[in-house]
Amino acid sequence: MKPPLNAVPLASGVPSVNKGSLVLKRVKVPPIVVERKTTMTQTDELPVDDKPPPTERDAEQEQKQDVEAAPANSTKVLALLECTPANLQRLQRKLQAEGSVLCLDERLLRLSDEDENERDKAMNSDKTDVTSDKNRFLTVRNVKTDESVSVSYIWLRDHCRCEDCYNVATFQRSTSILDLPLDIQPESCEIYDEKISIVWQDGHRSSYDLNVVFSNHTDNFRKRLEEQRAQLVLWDRALITAANNTPPGYARVTLNDLLCEDIVMCQVVDSLLRYGFAFITKVPPNQQSTEMAVKRIFPVQRTLFGDMWTFSESKMDHSDTAYTNGFLGPHTDNTYFSDAAGLQVLHCIQFNGSGGETLLVDGFRAVEQLRETDPEAYERLCEYPLEAEYMEEDKHHQFIAPVIRKHPVLAGSVEQIRFNPYDRAPLRTLAPEVVPQFYADYRKLAEEVYREEAQWKFQLTPGTVLIFDNWRVLHGRMAYSGKRVMTGCYVARTEFQSVARTLNMIE
Ligand SMILES: [Fe+2]
Ligand SMILES: [Zn+2]
Repeated sequence: MKPPLNAVPLASGVPSVNKGSLVLKRVKVPPIVVERKTTMTQTDELPVDDKPPPTERDAEQEQKQDVEAAPANSTKVLALLECTPANLQRLQRKLQAEGSVLCLDERLLRLSDEDENERDKAMNSDKTDVTSDKNRFLTVRNVKTDESVSVSYIWLRDHCRCEDCYNVATFQRSTSILDLPLDIQPESCEIYDEKISIVWQDGHRSSYDLNVVFSNHTDNFRKRLEEQRAQLVLWDRALITAANNTPPGYARVTLNDLLCEDIVMCQVVDSLLRYGFAFITKVPPNQQSTEMAVKRIFPVQRTLFGDMWTFSESKMDHSDTAYTNGFLGPHTDNTYFSDAAGLQVLHCIQFNGSGGETLLVDGFRAVEQLRETDPEAYERLCEYPLEAEYMEEDKHHQFIAPVIRKHPVLAGSVEQIRFNPYDRAPLRTLAPEVVPQFYADYRKLAEEVYREEAQWKFQLTPGTVLIFDNWRVLHGRMAYSGKRVMTGCYVARTEFQSVARTLNMIE
């Protein structure tokens, strides 16, 4: 058995780790209050001494003794969410007073995610590297870059691109997953001329371009995604309105330029990817011209609101707050759809009155702010299943998902904000004991979103089309008086991404 790494008793005069020590483990789950007697037992699975691991019976026995021996003045110990120096000192003082000792694993003192990753790596380094199993993995080296990757034989067999296994006309596999032996091994394997040639045990021959294997290795894919992610400009009002932001980093292009030049189309898509919004100006203020502007780049998504929609306070076609003239706080649309629209297009085609400024908030930035100030609230908002709904005469949409959706590959990145306090359904997805914490967390995010400095307010005037990313940018509107007519549409997320992909802007 291995002792914990660098187990340093902090309390002076208490020599070694013993049964009266407490080894803290950093936990990510909501705080759990653990009732313990003054003689503390370890809370970590890391062994603290050289005695053999306790059997289940021992543990039972110990627990029994704990219960029996628990003195009246038992001590409450919080499983610490953050091993901050202050928290640890406080705990140390408390234990010292009781004659116990606080034993710390050095790795637990590191606080940043980066360090945490390192710690996880260090933990895993004890385990054997499964990719060294030559029966299941092939390790190849790129002589140009001196980079090595390990790839499993099952992956290689599944990625055979010969004409029997893959239809190049449809870009689809022709094989059945049930025909893929889980323990597949090559009969022979040769690497030359940047190619891997394999003859499988059943005689099937496969050939792979080494560059393709490297490019599709998860580390390389992840690296490219991270590079794309690094291009994002997280903004607040100050950044967008800064005097030196001219010309602005985001796209503000004329309809004429958009129609005539492909590069302008790329500018709009790039702006949507990096800032989450773009403007098209000099668009005749009517629905048809707005549609023409959008369709130059994206197909329009049909929803219950139609393809292109036009609405005003005097034309309440749908039971939605947008069809009023009241204040509309920052929100994302379609939280009640299983797939919220990817982009939203808004064009104010008529306005005579006052107020009604549009407001935009960078949801990714708001979430980052929350993560910095309250990482636990952030994590919980990535988990709470929150239900939203939309009802009108013959429609009833509802969908349950977390407020924050993490990127499926880049766990540290956010893929979608789903924030619409108006469209929340009766809260029936959370246990009563979780509900107060949910409101506290949801409110914290709302505070970030409603922060004055987060909101960029501006007047949308006839002729200017706003397109924004409904998975990232929250929109709202100040109350107004007078007559205001808006036209616009949605674009499906998958269509937005497809356009960006065909333009080689994302992978
Ligand atoms: Fe909306
Ligand atoms: Zn094949």
